[in-house]
Amino acid sequence: MEKLSMLYEGKAKKVFRTSDEDFYIIEYKDDATAFNGIKKGTIQNKGILNNEISTILFELLEKEGVPTHFVKRLNDREMLVKKVEIYPIEVLIRNYAAGSISKRLGIEEGAKLKRTVLEFCYKNDELGDPFINEYHIEAMELATKDEVETIKNYSFKINDILSKYFISKNIILVDFKLEFGKSKDGIVLADEISPDTCRFWDSVTMEKLDKDRFRRDLGNVEGAYVEVLNRLEKQ
Ligand code: C5P
Repeated sequence: MEKLSMLYEGKAKKVFRTSDEDFYIIEYKDDATAFNGIKKGTIQNKGILNNEISTILFELLEKEGVPTHFVKRLNDREMLVKKVEIYPIEVLIRNYAAGSISKRLGIEEGAKLKRTVLEFCYKNDELGDPFINEYHIEAMELATKDEVETIKNYSFKINDILSKYFISKNIILVDFKLEFGKSKDGIVLADEISPDTCRFWDSVTMEKLDKDRFRRDLGNVEGAYVEVLNRLEKQ
């Protein structure tokens, strides 16, 4: 299969067409942005690390019965994925309060939520990815009611699988963002799962092992991503 022209360049990834119209190639970049693109920087080797971390997590989810766009890791920075049409919706899953929920609702960062919270955002850079609910999704025809139901079920299942897996690596899965797409075989998990899109805290020291180190200028950003990968690679 041949890599063809670039279809799309995002903040952290490029997507390329391939000679087989059912597949795309994703290239992971080292570029990092935060606060809707206001803060920009580079995290050394981030693309390589996120490609490896996402590969491990997609393989785990596939094994546990969650369909994903992942086909295989091609090399350091590239992954072969199924062609999907991404829903313009971000799903945020929160087990502990941190980041925007702490700010919006005044819940202390680090508090365990009495139940898992699922939130939706409208994927729109110009509007700053505003929070929406299921009524907005239907009203704006971003997805059907049935599609939203499937997306919610997968999201909670993914949270169960990943939370258990990460705690076995001494990592608390605080919160994360998911994106889904429509493939010719139905709804699948798409995008990536990495320290760019999740909050990971060391379960012993509570040290942050994710992009908050970049957002909040905590230093040792690359070291945290390497630490996550090392723990996932250990049996
Ligand atoms: O900023 P906030 O607290 O709402 O983020 C919740 C989780 O979703 C965090 O893990 C963050 O990294 C992730 N997220 C993301 N992309 C966005 C918004 C949030 O990966 N556009």
